[in-house]
Amino acid sequence: LPPLRLGIAGLGTVGAGLVSLLRENGAAIADRSGRSIEVAGVSARTPGKDRGVDLAGIPWFANACDLARSDSIDVFVELIGGDEGPALQSVEVALEAGKHVVTANKALLARHGVYLAGLAEKKGLALNFEAAIAGGIPIVKGLRESLLGNSISRVYGILNGTSNYILTRMQREGLPFAEVLAEAQALGYAEADPTFDVDGQDAGHKLALLSALAFGVRPDFGAIHLEGIRGITPDDFDAAEELGYRIKLLAVAIQTENGIEARVSPTMIPKTSALAGVDGPLNSVAVEGDYSGLIILAGPGAGSRATASSVASDIIDIARGHISPPFILPVAKLRQQTRPGM
Ligand code: NDP
Ligand code: HSE
Repeated sequence: LPPLRLGIAGLGTVGAGLVSLLRENGAAIADRSGRSIEVAGVSARTPGKDRGVDLAGIPWFANACDLARSDSIDVFVELIGGDEGPALQSVEVALEAGKHVVTANKALLARHGVYLAGLAEKKGLALNFEAAIAGGIPIVKGLRESLLGNSISRVYGILNGTSNYILTRMQREGLPFAEVLAEAQALGYAEADPTFDVDGQDAGHKLALLSALAFGVRPDFGAIHLEGIRGITPDDFDAAEELGYRIKLLAVAIQTENGIEARVSPTMIPKTSALAGVDGPLNSVAVEGDYSGLIILAGPGAGSRATASSVASDIIDIARGHISPPFILPVAKLRQQTRPGM
C-alpha cells in the first residue's frame, strides 16, 4: 500500500507530541498498519517557532484550510482547538474534499459533531476522536467497539485533568488555586481558555460525547448541569478530610425512564473508592453495561504524550482501512436527548 499522508493543523502541545511520536515509533507503526505514515504537510499560526520537534522537509501551509483540501494529504488531523473559526472551517473543508479527519477537539464535536458526522457519513470517511475524551484512555474505541453488545445504564468519571490536578494539589498540599492552575497551564494540561477546565465546560463537552457513544443520542451539551471547582474553599477540603472523603470534579450521565440525566459537579468521594485515588492529571472513566458489568479505566487524561498516543491510534485505524460511524449509529438514527431537568 502507498504511505498514508497526513496533514497536521496545530503544532502545540498535542500536535508537536504527535510529530514526535511518529518520528520515534513510525517504523513499528508502519509494520502494525501495513503501510507507512508520512507527515505530508503542517500548519500552525506562527511560522519558524521552535516547537521542540524536527519539522525539516515537511511542507508548511500558512492556512489550515489549504492544507485540509490539499491533494498531497489523505487524512486531516485537526489539533488547533476551539469550536468555530479555523478548526470548524478546516474540518468542513477536509470532509468536503474527501479527506478522513482525526481530531482531539471535544468543544468542536460537542457543538458540531452531528453535522460533521453527517458530512463524514455521506462520503464514507472517518471522523475519529479518541483523544477528545480523557486524553490517553481508550474509551472512545471501548464504547464504539468493545462494549457495543451492551445496553449501557451509566457512564461517569473524572474527565478533566487540569481541575483534577488543581484539586489534588490544593487538597494534599494546601496550595492556592491560582498557583496550581498556572502549573497545570505550564505542563500543557489546560485548554487555551482555562476557565473551560475549572468551570466544568471541558468535562461537559466530554460528557456530551460520552453520552452520544454510550446511549446513541445526539451530543447535547446544553442539557448538562455544570458546576466547576472555583467555589471550593480550604474549609471544604478540611471537612471532606475529616469525614473520610476526597473532593473530585465528577461527570455523570445516567439513562433514566425520562431520558438522560447528565451533570458535572464537585462531589465527595469516599477515600476508599477507586476514583478517590485518581490524582493529578489522571482521568478515570467508568461504564456500566448490562452484560459487561462495571468497567473502569484510568490513566493520563491530558498532556502531550498521552494525547498523541490516542491521536495515533485513530490514524492507525484509518491506515488499516477500519472506518467506524463516529457516534456508534448513523446520524439519522441518533436519538434526541430529552431533558429531565435535573
Ligand atoms: P495548543 O494551544 O498547545 O496548540 C494549538 C495549536 O494550534 C498551536 O500550534 C497554534 O499555532 C495552532 N493554531 C492556532 N490557530 C491556528 C490556525 N488558524 N491555523 C493553524 N493552526 C493554528 O493546544 P493543545 O495542543 O493543547 O490542544 C489542541 C487540541 O487538542 C484542542 O482541541 C484541545 O482541546 C485538545 N486536547 C488537548 C489536550 C491537552 O492535554 N493539551 C488533551 C486532549 C485534547 P502556534 O503554535 O503557532 O500558536
Ligand atoms: N484541558 C483538558 C484537561 C485537556 O485538562 O483535561 C484534555 O482534554
